[in-house]
Amino acid sequence: MLEKIQETAEWLLNHSAIRPKVLIVLGTGLKRLAEEIEVVDRFPYKDIPNFPISTVEGHSGQLLFGYLGGKEVVAMEGRFHYYEGYSMLQVTFPTRVMREMGVKNLFVSNAAGGVDPDFEIGDLMLITDHINFLPEHPLRGKNFPYGPRFLDMSDTYDKALLQQARDYAKSKGIRLMEGVYLANTGPTYETPAEYHMYHVWGANAVGMSTVPEVIVAHHCGMRIFGMSVITDLGVKGKIVEVTHEEVQRIADGVQPIMADIFRHLIAGLD
Ligand code: HPA
Repeated sequence: MLEKIQETAEWLLNHSAIRPKVLIVLGTGLKRLAEEIEVVDRFPYKDIPNFPISTVEGHSGQLLFGYLGGKEVVAMEGRFHYYEGYSMLQVTFPTRVMREMGVKNLFVSNAAGGVDPDFEIGDLMLITDHINFLPEHPLRGKNFPYGPRFLDMSDTYDKALLQQARDYAKSKGIRLMEGVYLANTGPTYETPAEYHMYHVWGANAVGMSTVPEVIVAHHCGMRIFGMSVITDLGVKGKIVEVTHEEVQRIADGVQPIMADIFRHLIAGLD
């Protein structure tokens, strides 16, 4: 697998002059953030050697190399979810490829269900921590040489970036929530009992992604910043039917604000 990762990194380095320091992962309904990027090169996943191919509606599946906030970035338009049937090695393959390419920062986004009674639909949430409730661990198996076998997770989401996001949101009058993101497999949304359980466990939002990429990026020594768009509520008395279309619609409405925060933080990276 390490050879495949290096082969793909080399292919990308040979096909683009951009040397990204930031990987941006665009979640469900958050594709328009890509329009903010001054794209220099785009590679559909199917053209990239060894790359898995994304299957979910609303994810077109391409890698964009270009500039955001004056910085060289690479964006994943469409990510790989565990529920699609990929192995954890496949889900996190692009993150490790980016590590080989010299990427030092992960900016990750997703659509999630809010389980915090203070949340409203359309809220943005800074991810301050996570609960990994996926059935397979992304670091299970032979340890990759990027980091230690037993990885500390006490300081995963970069505190300085979190503070910059809070300060920026305050200065702009943006309502910004924060909390713990719990990842479960999906592809079902949660039952009311499951939403309740996750809240009792300490989660503020629930989704089906992000945690594998974050764990692997942390293993690779990257700085990590993550945000969720709360597209529906798993809060007693407020639970309504969830559809993928509605999740996409809500995320679409909020994405300019999220893009603004991402751009601001990326512009300030050294
Ligand atoms: N649960 C899990 N994943 C989600 C949800 C949800 O309520 N909303 C958007 N993605």
